[in-house]
Amino acid sequence: MAEIIDGKAVGDDVAATVKRLTAELVAGGGPTPGLAVVIVGEDPASQVYVASKSKKAKECGFHSVQHTLPADTSQADLLKLIGDLNADTAIHGILVQLPLPKHIDAGLVIQTIAPEKDVDGFHFINVGKLGTGELATAFVPCTPAGSMLLIERVRGRDLSGLNAVVVGRSNIVGKPMANLLLAANCTVTIAHSKTKDLPAVARAADILVAAVGRPEMIRGDWVKPGATVIDVGINRIPAPEKGEGKTRLVGDVAYAEAAKVAGAITPVPGGVGPMTIAMLMANTLSSAYISAGKPRPKF
Ligand code: GUN
Repeated sequence: MAEIIDGKAVGDDVAATVKRLTAELVAGGGPTPGLAVVIVGEDPASQVYVASKSKKAKECGFHSVQHTLPADTSQADLLKLIGDLNADTAIHGILVQLPLPKHIDAGLVIQTIAPEKDVDGFHFINVGKLGTGELATAFVPCTPAGSMLLIERVRGRDLSGLNAVVVGRSNIVGKPMANLLLAANCTVTIAHSKTKDLPAVARAADILVAAVGRPEMIRGDWVKPGATVIDVGINRIPAPEKGEGKTRLVGDVAYAEAAKVAGAITPVPGGVGPMTIAMLMANTLSSAYISAGKPRPKF
């Protein structure tokens, strides 16, 4: 049976380090790291995510502000708020929760965030830095950054000689994940819905990252024996066995099958999920350190 990679424990570890380094920064006369989270509309899942981000920020000792805007907020008003947050010296990280309502151009909103406060790592400047291997100064998107920390716990920092397959090519996970694995010397394949013989491609992976958003799509016989499997998917599916109308969370990997074959695997929930939020705190802390002219902490 595979080693179960405990993302909750690693995420707690990261958050504890963030809390300690926040206290050190402030004790040394530096700024209190400030995180602004902006949400537009009433999507229930987004509300849950945003509330947990704000709560974790407070736990870390941050200055945490949340802007909850009505669904009919105009694009101009949202851009104005971002401009104000860009100029606010108490704020080191700005996160605009996606998706945004259809009448707002999400791309424009993201590119309006100052790159040095873009703790999501979605601004072209940060995307370009990651793509060119400028990892020392880039903000890396939180989910792939957290996934990478989990991989390092199992495989170490240098992944030379290993084949990595990332299933999914999104800008938020698949593409940045591939760039991180490449920077760590993996031989990287990005597979997606148009890939021919996906099971065979997946079976070549020493490190298999699933980020497709399709419940339990990746089966046990797609996994190479001993592989490290990182399941980024969080899918809610009906669970009639728990009672009428009940649901449960599953990943993009058929966990029970894959765990019999893999060397190490992340569970859902409790794998990548807790890492995303921990890395948001780490990125915000880094931004505050940089603003104080101090070298950014390494996670
Ligand atoms: N919505 C789902 N994932 C994310 C994320 O990582 N960042 C933001 N801003 N919105 C999201």
